[in-house]
Amino acid sequence: MPSPKPLTHRPPRHFRLPTQEATESLARALAGTARPGDCWALSGEMGSGKSTFARAFLRALTQNSALEVPSPTFSLVQPYETPVGPAYHYDLWRLEGPESLAELAWDEACAGLMLVEWPERAEDCLPPDAVQLIFSIPVPEKASGLKDSGEVETQMREVTVRNWPPERAFPEVAGLSGAALS
Ligand SMILES: Nc1ncnc2c1ncn2[C@@H]1O[C@H](COP(=O)(O)OP(=O)(O)OP(=O)(O)O)[C@@H](O)[C@H]1O
Ligand SMILES: [Mg+2]
Repeated sequence: MPSPKPLTHRPPRHFRLPTQEATESLARALAGTARPGDCWALSGEMGSGKSTFARAFLRALTQNSALEVPSPTFSLVQPYETPVGPAYHYDLWRLEGPESLAELAWDEACAGLMLVEWPERAEDCLPPDAVQLIFSIPVPEKASGLKDSGEVETQMREVTVRNWPPERAFPEVAGLSGAALS
């Protein structure tokens, strides 16, 4: 009988995140699996929860629930020391082009642990094995929670996790069950 093919990927997982606490709980669980060399690519529309996820992830990683984690909107990158080595939080929304990454400690960051908001802006410079988290605000909740000011009132978010490392077990997330997508 032929031996089974090595597992090259895991199916994507989809989570509903009804509250900010749910997003933070997922971030803490995933941070528990983090290793040097990881790239966590956080995609999704504005306000969908990328920085909220990154903040909870970095607080868990540093075991410091009061850690200041500003959104690096203008500096584009914020470094952290963590027990698993240096970590770098990027927000590439304002990146002029991937050639500018060299000035943002990108090569050092690729050897360390990276959390990257707006990863599409890094184009081919993004590590191909990055774990992809795609956040969104579900349309029905967005429509019903839209205020006159244009702000969204709903806390409901969703995330799909793709490209999970095949050799890494996906952690249990307290209070959340992720649906495996085919
Ligand atoms: N379920 C939820 N998950 C994450 N954030 C939520 C949730 N519910 C409400 N929020 C709120 O939504 C906002 C998300 O903002 P956040 O800065 O994390 O978004 P972002 O995706 O990083 O946006 P940007 O693209 O502008 O950087 C915060 O104000 C947060 O309190
Ligand atoms: Mg952000």
